Amino acid sequence: MSARVIPVQPFDYVVFGATGDLTKRKLIPALYYRFKAGQFDQRSRIIGISRRPWDDKKMQEIARQSIKNHVDEIYHDPDVIEKFVSCFSYVANDVTDKDGWQEISDKLRDDKDVVRAFYLAVAPNLFAPICEYLKSGKYCHSNARVVLEKPLGHDLESSVQINDAVGAAFSEDQIYRIDHYLGKETVQNLLALRFANAMFEPIWNATHIDHVQISVAESVGAGTRGYYDEAGALRDMIQNHILQLLCLVAMEPPASNKPNALRDEKLKVLRSLKPLIGEDLKTNTVRGQYKGVRAETLEVASYQDELPDELKGSHTETFVAIKAEIKNWRWSGVPFYIRTGKRLATRMSEIVIQFRKVPHSIFSKDQGTPTANKLVIRLQPDEGVKLFMMIKDPGPGGMRLREVHLNLSFADTFEDRVPEAYERLLLDVIRGDQTLFMRRDELEEAWKWVDPIRAAWDAMHEAPQPYSVGTWGPTSSVALIERDGRTWHEESDY
Ligand code: BG6
Repeated sequence: MSARVIPVQPFDYVVFGATGDLTKRKLIPALYYRFKAGQFDQRSRIIGISRRPWDDKKMQEIARQSIKNHVDEIYHDPDVIEKFVSCFSYVANDVTDKDGWQEISDKLRDDKDVVRAFYLAVAPNLFAPICEYLKSGKYCHSNARVVLEKPLGHDLESSVQINDAVGAAFSEDQIYRIDHYLGKETVQNLLALRFANAMFEPIWNATHIDHVQISVAESVGAGTRGYYDEAGALRDMIQNHILQLLCLVAMEPPASNKPNALRDEKLKVLRSLKPLIGEDLKTNTVRGQYKGVRAETLEVASYQDELPDELKGSHTETFVAIKAEIKNWRWSGVPFYIRTGKRLATRMSEIVIQFRKVPHSIFSKDQGTPTANKLVIRLQPDEGVKLFMMIKDPGPGGMRLREVHLNLSFADTFEDRVPEAYERLLLDVIRGDQTLFMRRDELEEAWKWVDPIRAAWDAMHEAPQPYSVGTWGPTSSVALIERDGRTWHEESDY
């Protein structure tokens, strides 16, 4: 089955930070896929901006390279590539230098009917000056939008400052705060699963669900990004991606799928999160940092080894596990175990809904004990949904219970490749659809929950617990869930 493509009107996309990694690895490939699919054509303009002294030709060459390196070869079509790169132009501009702005202005269409989007893939300290120039230069007409990449601050206070500065130039309905997890196909599918199937909603509550697990595991390390050591896993992954996933699992059914209906419900979940302070913080949070492996055949560096000298000894966490609770009627007493980390055993993101056991088993011990049902939503890789359930083992040998999986694998069910999150999100900006973007109050509410955790950890002045690369994190993260008589869902269970 082929995906439906509804073309958008020609647009002007202005990308600040055009020479950066995100542009090359994510934005250009995503736009190319959409161009190739016929969602927009050469009438659209993509204007790269950065300090480097490039010109249009160089930007177009970078776009070609980016396709070569980051787009699956079967989608390389020389004619289409040339048409696509002709949409690109470039302005070398230090955004804090007022004089350079005229050139940007010249590249934009002076037509209020043409959507213009300003994508800020730059350090957050540049958000305020860029927005000021955009405002004073009268770039923000009614069809203008601004797209913000994380980090959107490092705590509530800095996030408020950013939001105030951006809000002085753009109204909230023109601001698109990216959390690329919301653009992932399986994440959007959570909405379909929960609200387009009548069977789940009646059992989606504390009466039937024992607990929920959200794991986002990465096999890669933190790399040498300076940002990571300032952020750590709590700010880098939990505050945004994982809390957003938690909201989609836990929220009440919105009245419609209009952006604000959905965001209102997510906000209520964030407001219902039990603060983790005092004893709760000590027992319900775990942070770790990976330590390398040195063996004859294998050598993988520790987090510490990767750091520049001035940061050695850093207490930044590369792993976090938290037992979170949502204090509301639906979820009372249902723990949400969340965990994320770098250099773990594998790359895998999933949500596990663990249902309760049958209240009484009619089967004898010999026939087997019914295992509680489990719904596993696999975000990546091998996107899909699996329902673990009990059946009778086939055969004439009498009743024997066996656990099997109802498996909805996206790869087997749909012929198309699974689109990248940015393909959806970049074009949603043009369509003016904010459903998959974070509203200001959501973002700030998430910081309110995360800030006390961060502050308490910092106040402890303790190093995070070490874990070996290629494992599932510190042993205390296993204890965090096993203490409650539960276990993390294992990869081999899938
Ligand atoms: C980013 C984080 O937001 O998400 C990275 O800053 C992380 O540290 C990445 O690696 C994970 O995204 P994905 O789509 O590869 O799961």
